[in-house]
Amino acid sequence: MTANPIFCALDTSDVEAAAKLAGALHGTVGGIKLGLEFFLAHGPDGVRRVAGALPLFLDLKLHDIPNTVAGAMRSIVPLGAAMTTLHASGGPAMMKAAADAASEAAAKSGGRRPMLLGVTILTSLDDEALPRIGFADKSAGAVQRLAALAQESGLDGAVCSPHEVAALRALCGPGFKLVVPGIRPAGSGADDQKRVMTPKQAMAAGADYLVIGRPITGAADPAHAARLIAEELA
Ligand code: C5P
Repeated sequence: MTANPIFCALDTSDVEAAAKLAGALHGTVGGIKLGLEFFLAHGPDGVRRVAGALPLFLDLKLHDIPNTVAGAMRSIVPLGAAMTTLHASGGPAMMKAAADAASEAAAKSGGRRPMLLGVTILTSLDDEALPRIGFADKSAGAVQRLAALAQESGLDGAVCSPHEVAALRALCGPGFKLVVPGIRPAGSGADDQKRVMTPKQAMAAGADYLVIGRPITGAADPAHAARLIAEELA
């Protein structure tokens, strides 16, 4: 897709600010990530406007019955996203239906099939919260179990924390894409991220793509901040 592994998270509902940032970052990042906050405010038109020619990670974390998620996937494919997300806990039938729908929609339109990424265990859920939502295993085990299920069910990769990368790379092999948030360049603050790694550490552990938000979007010169990270990785 792109040699630059950095996807910048534009976490805003302000379409002008997002478009300005995306324009400024063109050429210094591999792509941008837009999530529910932006999508629910501006929909497909806003997404097209902001992403332009930049590769897009559309992070909508789908989770519903297979028929509904397949339908959602048919609506996502024309947006031309490079990657999109669904919850692996939606189960194998849901993931298979999504993968089939994405392939069919892409073939029909002659467009690209997005990389489908499984969300395993949200990093906001700790080992105390997991049993309360019915998970018997601890988060490390649950992440591996769900990533393996995502792979078996036809997904292309998973979103995971930097500290899960090495184990998932070993479990799922080299072809399974690992997309990793919780990245902080050396010397920058952690914000609300609890367990971070530097871009270099995460890539060395086996990440394919890095999702980086505030260290870039909060910098006085976002393009410069992105360029410094890309240069450190080159
Ligand atoms: O600003 P920051 O670099 O912390 O942004 C990280 C991005 O990755 C945000 O869009 C956040 O929602 C997302 N993310 C995360 N941790 C996860 C999954 C997604 O930080 N486990």
